[in-house]
Amino acid sequence: MMVVETYHNLAVLCIFFTIALGGLILLIATNLFKGKQKKQSYLIEKTDNDTLVDSQLRKKPVRVYLDGCWDVMHSGHYNALRQAKALGDILVVGVHSDEEIARNKREPVMKNEQRMAAVKSCKWADEVVFDVPYSPSIALLDELKCDYCAHGDDMPVAANGKSAYDAVMDRLKIFRRTPGISTTHLIQRLIDAANQPSIQSLNNSLTKPTRSASWSSFLPSSHRISAFSNNTVPKKDDTVIYIDGVFDLFHVGHISALKAAKKMGTFLYVGLYNDDIVRKIMGNCFPIQSLQERVLNVLSCKYVDDVIIGCPFEISESTIKSLHISKVILTKNTLIASNNLERYSYPKKIGILETIETESDFTTKTLMRRIVNDREKLQQQNKNRVEKAKKYVEEQTYVEEQ
Ligand code: CTP
Repeated sequence: MMVVETYHNLAVLCIFFTIALGGLILLIATNLFKGKQKKQSYLIEKTDNDTLVDSQLRKKPVRVYLDGCWDVMHSGHYNALRQAKALGDILVVGVHSDEEIARNKREPVMKNEQRMAAVKSCKWADEVVFDVPYSPSIALLDELKCDYCAHGDDMPVAANGKSAYDAVMDRLKIFRRTPGISTTHLIQRLIDAANQPSIQSLNNSLTKPTRSASWSSFLPSSHRISAFSNNTVPKKDDTVIYIDGVFDLFHVGHISALKAAKKMGTFLYVGLYNDDIVRKIMGNCFPIQSLQERVLNVLSCKYVDDVIIGCPFEISESTIKSLHISKVILTKNTLIASNNLERYSYPKKIGILETIETESDFTTKTLMRRIVNDREKLQQQNKNRVEKAKKYVEEQTYVEEQ
């Protein structure tokens, strides 16, 4: 009887211990799970970039690094910035110094300050870093907390003869280089324009049109325009600002005008004159960039909401009413037909024309003067680049655009 009772007590004790052990294991497992959940929530990283949406904030944002010379900014550069941004969440843009570009490529036409301003104003650039090396390293990517380095499918060769991106191959993402547009093209067009006698004296009489670089053509498509567009319209309460012009060779002077114009309201329309109008007024050498190229450049600027492609030269009552314009802006640096501002007489009459100062006095004339003075040196330096560009056209393979 005693033995049976002892066995019974032992069994009760065993059951009690098993239940207690089970409970303990359950408690530990629950806490571990909670701990894990807490740890995951730490993965949310704070970022200054307010374009990130909630779903992107919940995971660690992917940081992409894209460097470049960004000399005489063009729509190929802007499309590179757009595609690189699409490869991650935050785009960190490296800008080489004048000395680094001269050492590895050729002397830049646009200097440090002008190239930095062009990149900083681009709507796809989240962070901009100046004076980065021509050949990036893993240490640089880590220092900038970048997961990837991006580049177009044209690998540059550094001064030492090696591919400039060898060291970051494991973290390299390649996007499609935009065909038919490059600084080399633009410099060639500028040199051709600078060789016209009327440009050398910087007067605007009619001259032969310049359209060199027939080895590759600019190919604007509706996809490209839609990829660059903000797809937005003014809301009822918006204060709509309108500024028009040529915006050829989009530079720091244009950017500072657009920045100042945007400050005057909440929605900025930029009107771009068509090529015929520009040619008639400025001579056959202009515009250096076609209307389609100019449209893409202006759309890349963060101060711009929308553009009017081939806008009317004269700002009429119907234009003002149709676009709900509150203010028309004219800057002190306006070059085109600056001695005849008849086209602004209606906005002036109704009291909505405002002439403003801007931060930069850089104009297309400043750039042309630089080209005229340096054209022989530039022609010499550009020769190799033209050969390289032709070789790229011959050898290019298919890479899908982002
Ligand atoms: N890029 C591009 N499409 C172009 C021109 C440049 O995608 N038509 C890309 C390059 O592949 C690079 C970035 O833009 O990733 C910066 O280019 P940059 O260093 O300024 O020089 P290049 O590639 O030589 O451009 P360019 O010939 O216009 O000077």
